[in-house]
Amino acid sequence: MGEVILRASQVTKEYRSRRGPLVRALRGVSIAVEAGRTLGIVGESGCGKSTLARLLVGLEPATSGTVELLGRPVAPPRGGRSPFARTVQLVFQDPFSSLDPRLTVVSALAEVLKVHGLATSREARRARAAALLEMVALGPRFLDRYPHELSGGQAQRVAIARALAVEPRLLVLDEPTSALDVSVRAEVMNLLVRLQDELGLSYVFISHDLAMVRHLSDEIAVMYLGAVVEQGPYGPVLESSLHPYTAALAAAVPVPDTTRHVHRDGRPPGSEAPPLTGEPPAGCPYHPRCALAEPVCTTVRPTLDELLPGHLAACHVAARRVAVAPGAPPVPG
Ligand SMILES: Nc1ncnc2c1ncn2[C@@H]1O[C@H](COP(=O)(O)OP(=O)(O)OP(=O)(O)O)[C@@H](O)[C@H]1O
Ligand code: SF4
Ligand SMILES: [Mg+2]
Repeated sequence: MGEVILRASQVTKEYRSRRGPLVRALRGVSIAVEAGRTLGIVGESGCGKSTLARLLVGLEPATSGTVELLGRPVAPPRGGRSPFARTVQLVFQDPFSSLDPRLTVVSALAEVLKVHGLATSREARRARAAALLEMVALGPRFLDRYPHELSGGQAQRVAIARALAVEPRLLVLDEPTSALDVSVRAEVMNLLVRLQDELGLSYVFISHDLAMVRHLSDEIAVMYLGAVVEQGPYGPVLESSLHPYTAALAAAVPVPDTTRHVHRDGRPPGSEAPPLTGEPPAGCPYHPRCALAEPVCTTVRPTLDELLPGHLAACHVAARRVAVAPGAPPVPG
């Protein structure tokens, strides 16, 4: 294993409100990201992806478990400034939500440089801002623009440039292209690939869409109701999925075989979508939607185990199939 930049161990997150039920957004999530590599995180809406993203960058504390950046525990920012900002930066889904509408692009970038003491004079900050824009393929004419004068794709490039201003090792990208027009998504994806190449960045790339993470990811973690249900190298997870939920997600990716069809969120056709919030049922959380469910699945929660080298899944049936025939794909196509 290469140098681990980020490690989360058995992280849980609970939200308590005065009214309404306790929300367990994360239930024991463990992940690791190596230098220069990308961990893709996929799962449907409400499974806890953005919560995990906020915990990974120290914006919120975990209820239990640990998050470590370069071996040091991540703590929430003090006085608005995170001591971890120079290692990890978060890029949000909606670029406009992260840009101050009153600041021009150069002011937004200069502010970050100033806070971190990275350029001492006004001229130096403007020059560095121009260089940062060039890295994201925006010309100097964008320096004096306000956010409302930018398209969605341009605004996301500026948000990425601002994240890069502190020379981080890792970017946590929370659905960075899903708010953008389809036509500019590929451009932003290609930009991210190039930046990773040029700067040796590590990424945590979050998406509800398996088709998006497959472009970029070395490793993939599939989340369901606040827990990782499958994790491993990109190829095996996508092509020989161990968990039925991953198999359903993978089958929704456009594939030549048009006889295979499931809803985008992994439901088989015609099935009712059970609510994603609230307490999962006893046993395997996926059992109400699982075509392979057996009696044991309704009573015993499967643990996330390494069923094949480096390839983990939380599924009774997959564990048995792998044990019986280690070479065969555990989930029939
Ligand atoms: N601040 C909060 N207070 C209470 N509940 C919250 C809070 N933030 C998130 N949740 C709940 O935690 C769960 C996970 O939410 P989260 O936003 O992490 O999911 P997500 O996977 O990012 O979803 P999406 O794909 O829609 O962005 C949801 O049930 C959500 O309602
Ligand atoms: S444990 Fe059972 S219900 Fe859960 S995914 Fe595996 S087969 Fe389906
Ligand atoms: Mg989210």
